Amino acid sequence: MQAGRADAAAQSGQVQVGQYTNEAIAGQELRLLRQHPQPVAGSSSLASPGAWLSLTHFGIPLLLVRQEDGQVQAFLNVCRHRGARVVPEGSGSQARAFVCPYHAWTYRPDGALRCVPASFGFPCLKQEESGLRKLATVERAGTVWVVLDPALSASDPGAHLGALMDNLESLAGLRAPVAYAPRSYEVDANWKLLIDGAFEAYHFKVAHRKTIAHMFVDNMQVVDEFDLHRRLYLIKAKFSEDKPEVSGFDPRRYGNLTYFFFPNTTVLVQPDHAQLGSLEPLGPTRTRVHELTLIPEAPTSDKAKAHWEANVALYRRTLQEDYALAESIQAGLASGANAALTFGTFEYSAPRFHSQLQQQLAALRPAS
Ligand code: FES
Ligand SMILES: [Fe+2]
Repeated sequence: MQAGRADAAAQSGQVQVGQYTNEAIAGQELRLLRQHPQPVAGSSSLASPGAWLSLTHFGIPLLLVRQEDGQVQAFLNVCRHRGARVVPEGSGSQARAFVCPYHAWTYRPDGALRCVPASFGFPCLKQEESGLRKLATVERAGTVWVVLDPALSASDPGAHLGALMDNLESLAGLRAPVAYAPRSYEVDANWKLLIDGAFEAYHFKVAHRKTIAHMFVDNMQVVDEFDLHRRLYLIKAKFSEDKPEVSGFDPRRYGNLTYFFFPNTTVLVQPDHAQLGSLEPLGPTRTRVHELTLIPEAPTSDKAKAHWEANVALYRRTLQEDYALAESIQAGLASGANAALTFGTFEYSAPRFHSQLQQQLAALRPAS
């Protein structure tokens, strides 16, 4: 800021257009994303032991159940007999047994197979090995994170989220926040175009001039890396006005923190709440965005409700500006105007993400 301009010593870079349009790459990326913890629901939607939630995430039928020990366990919501969806989409608070609608194989809340009608017809069935398939599950920052690939059921998603998650949870109100205003919607753009936009502040002054540009220092962002994850700090204009002291410095007062969990989740930390967004590729040119607002406690008054609604509305309006631009980029990609997209030095975080992603894809274990 003293130099009056963003870091020019960083690496600029290019990303080939095919990275955003190729069907095979999109398929590989989806496999990779299923191997990384995905935020699938707010912890607060499973209040106490016995609470359950049946949903579809990344095209996979899931069943989440809060167990007697208080931990949430995710299962593949797929019958071990002939594969029917066991529990229809919905939620409840008193799980006793889950009965498959096809032939009534019955599972306990802990996933174990309890009852097989006319079991004499399955002489070889090992009932104790035929419970619902478990998925690696952890609750962090008020959110249930699941590794969707059942081959990785023994993995530790908490370790994967690493020191960046510890840091996020250390912020006031983000240890166990309440999930508010969940929503999912689709955008006509490759998911990585939406990530690119989160990794630079170069566009703020222009693309966000009607919404939030006035609140921030132009084209200035601090990036800290935590393995493949990163934390981005967007500095507010009042930082240069107040010139706050180093000791006792409150980062949330002087900027927005974006916590990026590789490869597809961001948590935007505002002074009194956070916005989680995770991206589900539906193909090379279409993305489903899953959004969750994390607030300190459920609103109990109209005033509190209005406060959160206003925050959610501004967030969505700002994102709409980003996503409309991503859609315009996607629409032009196939035109042949550019063989590659070009990123400046202060946009280095985006091409760096692409090369890290390509490394991870190259190391992807073969499909089973
Ligand atoms: S498919 Fe579930 S009981 Fe047959
Ligand atoms: Fe933006």
